[in-house]
Amino acid sequence: MANTDDHQPHPHLHDSKGVDDYHVRGQFGSRLGFILAAAGSAVGLGNIWKFPYMTGENGGSAFIILYLICVFIFGLPVMLGEFVIGRATQTDQVTAYSVLSPGRPWGLNGLMGLLSGLLILSFYCPVAGWMLCYGVRMATGGFDVAGMNHEQIGDYFNGQMMTLLQANTPETWYVPIIYMLIIAVITGTIILMGVESGVERACKILMPALFILMLLMIVRSLTLPNIGGGLSFLFKPDFGKISWSTLLSAMGMAFFSLSLAMGAMMTYASYVDKKENLVKMALSVTLLDTAVALLAGLMIFPAVFSAGLDPNAGPGLVMQTLPVIFMSMPLGKIAGTIFFLLLTVAAITSSISLMEPIVTWLVDGLNIRRGYAAVMVLLLIVILAIPVSLSVTGDGLMVLNIRGLTSMPLFDVMSYLAENVFMPLGAIIICMFLLLSGWKRSAILQEAVGTEGTVTTAVKLWYWTAVTITPLGILFILLNSSGLLGRIQAYFAG
Ligand code: TRP
Repeated sequence: MANTDDHQPHPHLHDSKGVDDYHVRGQFGSRLGFILAAAGSAVGLGNIWKFPYMTGENGGSAFIILYLICVFIFGLPVMLGEFVIGRATQTDQVTAYSVLSPGRPWGLNGLMGLLSGLLILSFYCPVAGWMLCYGVRMATGGFDVAGMNHEQIGDYFNGQMMTLLQANTPETWYVPIIYMLIIAVITGTIILMGVESGVERACKILMPALFILMLLMIVRSLTLPNIGGGLSFLFKPDFGKISWSTLLSAMGMAFFSLSLAMGAMMTYASYVDKKENLVKMALSVTLLDTAVALLAGLMIFPAVFSAGLDPNAGPGLVMQTLPVIFMSMPLGKIAGTIFFLLLTVAAITSSISLMEPIVTWLVDGLNIRRGYAAVMVLLLIVILAIPVSLSVTGDGLMVLNIRGLTSMPLFDVMSYLAENVFMPLGAIIICMFLLLSGWKRSAILQEAVGTEGTVTTAVKLWYWTAVTITPLGILFILLNSSGLLGRIQAYFAG
C-alpha cells in the first residue's frame, strides 16, 4: 500500500517513539492487515465461548436464527457506519464526531463507547484467563480423566462450573486472578509495542490454525454417540421460547461478536487507506465472524448432548464440553492444549481492540504519552477485573455481587450493561449521526466505497437501512424488552 508523505515509509499502526511523533499516524501495512485486525477483533471469546452458551440458554436454533437476522440488519449497517466515520476523520472516536459535526455533543457517544469497552474488558480478561488456564492444565496433565468414558468426563467437568479453575478453597482463590493478570499484561504490552506487527502476524498464522482445529473438532463432535438431541437443538427451531428479552440478547450478542458500538471498529478504520472500499471490508469481516460462531455451535452442541450435559449451563458451558471432545480424540491432550492456547490468542487480539480505542483517545484526544496512557488503562482494567472475576470464581467471595442492588454476580452485571444497554444505545446514536450530523449524504456514500470506488445502489440501500430500519428496530427491541412499550401502550389505552 502506498503511503502519503506524512506517513512513515514502513508504517506501523502506532508510533510511540517520542513527543514529536504524536501526530504522525500510522496506517495498516496492507488491506489484508486491516481485514485481519478487524477480524481478529471480531473473532474471539464472543464466538467460541459466549455464542454457544447464549444459544444454550435461549433454546437453541430459534436463537441462532434471531442472531443471524440481527447480524445483518443491525450489525452490518452499524459496522459500515463505524468504518466510514473512523476513516473519514482519522482520529480517536471522541474527536471524530466533533470533526464531522463541530460544536455538537455527539462526542459523548465516543465516551460512552470507551466506558462500555472498560466494562467488557473487566469480564473479558478473566474469561481469556480461564482459557489460558485450561491450556496450561491440559499441557501439564492437570485433568486426570484416564479410563473414563465421555459421559463420565462430562460429569467430571460438570462437577463444578469450571472444575479445577473453580476457586473454592482458600489457597486457590487467586488462580483465576493470576491468569487474568497475565492476559491483561500481555494485552498492554502488545499495545505498547505497536499493534500492527503483533496483531497482523498473530492473525495471519494463528487464526487460520484455530479455524482448522475447529473443523477437526466438529468432525469428532459429530461422530460422538447419541448426538441426536444436539442436532435437533441446533436445527429444529422452537419459536415458542422466543421473548423480547431473547431478542435483546440476540441483538446484544450480534453487537458484541462483531465488536461494534464501542468504537473499536471506528478506531481501526481510522488507520485505513483512503482508497479502500469499506463496504467489501465490512462484509468480509461480518461473514467471517458469523461463520466462526456457527462453527462453534456445531462443535459444542453435539458434544453437550452426547455427554448428557445441560445446554443451559451458562458461562461454564464450553469449559465443561470442550474437554469431552478432546478426551475422546486421538492426541486429545495435545489438541486440547493447542486449542486453548489459540483461543487465548484470539481473545488477546480482541482485548487489544477493546483497549486500543481507550489508549488512542488518551493519546490523540488528551495528548497523553502512549506509554503512560497504556499503563493507566491497564491498571484500571485490573482494578475492575479483580472483583468481577471473584464474583464468579471465588466461592465465599460472592459478597462482591453488590448485594441488595441486584442478585446478579458483578460479572453478569458488567456484560448486561455493556451488551444490552450501552451498545444498543451507542449503535442507535451512530446511525442517527449518519442522518443528522450535517455530514453530507453524498460524502458518506463516497467514503464508504473509497476514493476510487463508485457508489452503487447497494451502498445507497445500506445508507437508508442504517438510518431507518436499524435504529428503529434497535429502539423497538430496547423498549419492548424493558417493558417500557407495554407501559406506554397501557397509558394510552387508559
Ligand atoms: N468481538 C469480540 C469477541 O467476539 C469481543 C470484542 C472485541 C468486542 N472488541 C470489542 C466487543 C468491541 C464489543 C466491542 O470476542
